[in-house]
Amino acid sequence: MACSNIIVTGGAGFIGSNFVHWVVDNQPGVHVTVLDALTYAGNKENLAGIPEERMTFVHGDICDAALLEGLVPDADAIVHFAAESHNDNSIADPAPFIRTNVEGTFQLLEAARKHGTRFHHISTDEVYGDLALDDPARFTEETPYHPSSPYSSSKASSDLLVRAWHRTYGVPITISNCSNNYGPRQHIEKFIPRQITNILCGIRPKLYGDGQNVRDWIHTEDHSSAVWTILTKGQLGETYLIGADGERNNLDVLRAILERMGKEPDDFDWVRDRPGHDRRYAIDSAKLQRELGWRPQHTDFSLGLDDTIRWYADNEDWWRSAKDAVEAKYAAQGQ
Ligand code: NAD
Ligand code: TYD
Repeated sequence: MACSNIIVTGGAGFIGSNFVHWVVDNQPGVHVTVLDALTYAGNKENLAGIPEERMTFVHGDICDAALLEGLVPDADAIVHFAAESHNDNSIADPAPFIRTNVEGTFQLLEAARKHGTRFHHISTDEVYGDLALDDPARFTEETPYHPSSPYSSSKASSDLLVRAWHRTYGVPITISNCSNNYGPRQHIEKFIPRQITNILCGIRPKLYGDGQNVRDWIHTEDHSSAVWTILTKGQLGETYLIGADGERNNLDVLRAILERMGKEPDDFDWVRDRPGHDRRYAIDSAKLQRELGWRPQHTDFSLGLDDTIRWYADNEDWWRSAKDAVEAKYAAQGQ
């Protein structure tokens, strides 16, 4: 379908900004309108270098129906990344997660319904709950929803709204559920950038619980190419899982970071586990690969990690001012 004028919600955040850069670099002729509230996780600097003629930035809230009414009629599609995205924050204070993730998605769907706008919803594999470490199974599009945290249950709620707006009102939607992303411009509250910036600051990295929890890592650029593929080639009403066969436990990821940054394997602290901590996530992306021909490009985790470490080392200005407050918040939680 024609997607020459798209709204990207949350385009100043980690994955949204990487998607906007990917579209500008790979899809000539596409104009992007970024709609972002610039919460603690949003940063206009993430969009630096994008030519003015390719992007319009709108500072605003996805819950603002009047604002949406001024933007949506001109767009071919809405690509919806905006969310409260961090599990630990959702445990400390769930309210903003219900507002942005549930109410915000509802307002966007209402605007899409009114104007018949193509809507792609970005979601997470965390809606499926977790798998046991010794279970050979991976999540598929048929796995029942079983979210554990306020974050994942708010994302599951938003997915269900999107499905209902398709079935009941015929809104032209697709949904993608992706595994854990890594790469440049990820907020330093998240696992990989927290540990890299800890080491850069002379702070010992912090590992939750027994360190055996498994996440299925994908480079954020592969997430971007998958979202574009689904937006332009996906079948309306369908859900696609995005993953790149990157299962690793947290201890292994941390040790890889320590080794690359010249530290000993035990140069870290064990800290209090996250309540309700999901044990393992794992994605089977066969449907996306088979039906739409998408393939991940960044399949060497070591190379991706090297690039990511280099990015944080080279861009201290980007993260330094947030570091003390992030660590103070974790310390107050015993983490
Ligand atoms: P992020 O926290 O880095 O960015 C979120 C962005 O949304 C920020 O720019 C923020 O300012 C904006 N935002 C928040 N509330 C808003 C509101 N009410 N109105 C407008 N803008 C608002 O998040 P991220 O890690 O880039 O995640 C983006 C999306 O991808 C989310 O929907 C998340 O659930 C999903 N996802 C993330 C991962 C991951 O590993 N981080 C994996 C799978 C799916
Ligand atoms: P996180 O980046 O918060 O992503 P998610 O909870 O969405 O998977 O955490 C990734 C994993 O790393 C998760 O198992 C929790 C763990 N973790 C730590 O061990 N230490 C930390 O400092 C953080 C932030 C996370």
